[in-house]
Amino acid sequence: MNEPALKTLIVDDEDNVLRAIKRLFMDEETEVLTAASGQAGLDILKENEVALIISDQRMPGMSGSEFLKLAREIAPDAIRIILTGYADVTAAVDAINKGGAYRYLGKPWNDSELLMVARDALDRYRLVRENRRLTELTRRQNEELQKWSDELQIYVQQQTMELSEQNMKFTELNRRLNLKIEEFIAAFSNLVDIRGGAAHGHSENVAAITQRIGLKLGLDKQALERTVLAARLHDIGKVGIPDVIAIAKPEALSGDARRKYESHPVMGQSAIGMIEEFRDLGVLIRHHHENYDGSGFPDGLKGEKIPLGSRIIAGADLLDRFLSSGLTMGEISLEIKKRSATVLEPELAYLMGHHPAEFTGFRAGNGSGESALGLEDLRPGLRLSRDFRTDDGVLLLTKDTLLSEKHIELLKSCDFLDHSETSIFVWV
Ligand SMILES: [Fe+2]
Ligand SMILES: [Fe+2]
Repeated sequence: MNEPALKTLIVDDEDNVLRAIKRLFMDEETEVLTAASGQAGLDILKENEVALIISDQRMPGMSGSEFLKLAREIAPDAIRIILTGYADVTAAVDAINKGGAYRYLGKPWNDSELLMVARDALDRYRLVRENRRLTELTRRQNEELQKWSDELQIYVQQQTMELSEQNMKFTELNRRLNLKIEEFIAAFSNLVDIRGGAAHGHSENVAAITQRIGLKLGLDKQALERTVLAARLHDIGKVGIPDVIAIAKPEALSGDARRKYESHPVMGQSAIGMIEEFRDLGVLIRHHHENYDGSGFPDGLKGEKIPLGSRIIAGADLLDRFLSSGLTMGEISLEIKKRSATVLEPELAYLMGHHPAEFTGFRAGNGSGESALGLEDLRPGLRLSRDFRTDDGVLLLTKDTLLSEKHIELLKSCDFLDHSETSIFVWV
């Protein structure tokens, strides 16, 4: 599409001048408008976009330089040319200064010079206009970009907020779920421990000892957590066998009773393995009575074939049974070493036999006295020397429980306990 021609305004009070210039511009690419006075010229400027103004200086009423000054305010981009007599240089300078005239031409003018100047001026105007158009385009594009950028930023912020809210919800759900699992496991492990006799506190003790052995062996965090969980539940299968068998010393059992006793690891696995997330625990539980030399049960696995977690739980189980049978640390050390490479794997037997107290929380050579400690003085590894009951007589922890961090946290969170008055008896 062709652009409309640029407009040229000629202002002169002499009609023949107007006609002469109009004729001169006939073949030029410009539409010529004429005005006989400055005022008429201003009126045209208000209605039209004019590219070039050629004005006579000497006119009645408004002079050329006064007209150009006012024209500049209406059409600042228009190129302004003043026509003036050769002698009237002062008026020309005035027009340039006040009216911002692009240049002046003498009167009478030279046609070709006037044409050349006009063409040059129109080209200049085109450039100015193009420049303005491009500047405006860039400004609008920048605005648009800024708008997009702002919207994008808001969108990203919203998404980030939503994600972080979701994340918080998931974290909270996960925390609650973990709490539920903890409660569930505590309940199950209590099922075994409340059966009395030698089993009192046994599961928690085995878990605490397992934790220490696992740390010493450098198990990674997840493996350690899973092994300790399995340790807490390792004897869960005993709920399925008669009490007399469950609490009896295994070596005193024979025949059917013995077979029932030896079924508890498999029963434990069956119970726990029903929960998909606990299948790995079920495997560790199944093998906690395997012996290193293959003489254990239920599968007679040997050496490295026994899962590492089960080997650790077996060691912890043995250590807790020695402790509850009243052996001294020295005797326990000997008993453990005696079972190296038969019941226990040699590395484990060496580790535990060397310094068993390290895994029980007791101080070696002690265990004869007891001490009453306040809640704040409790630390993991201490063993209760008496049952711990609330003022109302509710049994919270049984004698011989090996205190874990969880126990201590639980006791400290009990609002019904008077923290300054409560004492707990432990072996020292
Ligand atoms: Fe067991
Ligand atoms: Fe056990």
